Amino acid sequence: MLRTKIAGIGYYVPEKVVTNHDLTKVMDTTDEWIQERTGIVERRYGKKHEETTTTMAARAAEVAIERAGISKEDIDFIIFATLSPDFYFPGCGVLLQRELGITNSEAGALDIRNQCSGFVYGLSVGDQFVRSGMYKNILLVGSEMHSMGLDFSTRGRNVTVIFGDGAGAVILQPTEEEGRGILSTALHSDGTYAEKLAFVCPGAHGGYHDKYIEETPDYGFPDVEYGEMFITERMMETGMLFPNMEGQFVFKMAVQKFPEVILETLDKAGLKKEDINMLIPHQANLRISQFVQRRMGLRDDQIWNNIQKFGNTTAASIPIALCEAVEAGAVKKGDVVCLAAFGSGFTWGGAVIRW
Ligand code: ACO
Repeated sequence: MLRTKIAGIGYYVPEKVVTNHDLTKVMDTTDEWIQERTGIVERRYGKKHEETTTTMAARAAEVAIERAGISKEDIDFIIFATLSPDFYFPGCGVLLQRELGITNSEAGALDIRNQCSGFVYGLSVGDQFVRSGMYKNILLVGSEMHSMGLDFSTRGRNVTVIFGDGAGAVILQPTEEEGRGILSTALHSDGTYAEKLAFVCPGAHGGYHDKYIEETPDYGFPDVEYGEMFITERMMETGMLFPNMEGQFVFKMAVQKFPEVILETLDKAGLKKEDINMLIPHQANLRISQFVQRRMGLRDDQIWNNIQKFGNTTAASIPIALCEAVEAGAVKKGDVVCLAAFGSGFTWGGAVIRW
């Protein structure tokens, strides 16, 4: 039976380490507050003017390509998941193709906008393409340059302290090896609470969605013409050009959806929670992961957490964590690896892989 395997995996994080103490110099926060609520000690920020979501993805992709033993010209499809693209359009998929110097125009490029669950969505899409026989070497990446789009004033502290920059990449290939590869995936969404964790400006909404926002913002639209509605001075003055999150609401949804989707993907694969060798949760918040660990009855060596040193890298967090676990020898051939993600949208999903 044809399945999809991860033939190569790599990650890249920028050199610049930003500690909680560093953040206390620009906003009213403390190391204790951040560690207690999120588990985060430090995160990485890309180098201004030199690194972008695309360049970090390219560095991670180069490692994955090499480990898969293929050449970049073998890649027949690119899937790029990010919430912090270099441009509003075109997406990072084609920018990555150019950055890697892939001149094979037969290869398609698809951009995924599913935030924290972007990698799992990409994995599921890639899995369908591989199993249908359409593609043989898919490059799937999750990459985020959050540091360019965060509010570093005290106003944005509840969001800013959580996020970090980085990228992770995998090569997806077909395998006929019995029992190996991606055994199941599951994808879900519920747009009811889209604004609970969102970055609504800039956008072409013109205030249309305000009925879903509890405190309707004053965008400054009445005073401007059509062409000026995308970004208004009012948005700049009030800090609306940054992400917003209702943290406690997100927390409650996350701790419900993570276990649900893990059990669902295991069930689809004909497995039970006792079969998990390694759970790689999206690194949203250490408290969320610990809650999920307890709920699933997993030992410390059955779950991978690295949010302490990288923060939440959204679409990049699962491939970075998976790559670290593989490099550390914590994921071995034949192991049952479970991936699970939840994030803005809300969207959530999971995958079970026999490594
Ligand atoms: N430093 C110090 N104080 C802060 C900070 C900060 N960085 N951020 C918020 N506060 C203050 C608030 O202003 C508030 O003060 P007040 O009581 O005087 O008004 C107080 O701390 C409590 O604020 P809350 O927002 O209610 O803080 P909470 O205890 O909920 O913790 C947090 C915030 C960590 C975001 C929490 O809600 C959480 O973990 N939510 C889960 C969401 C999450 O992890 N998202 C990650 C991205 S989404 C994803 O990947 C799924």
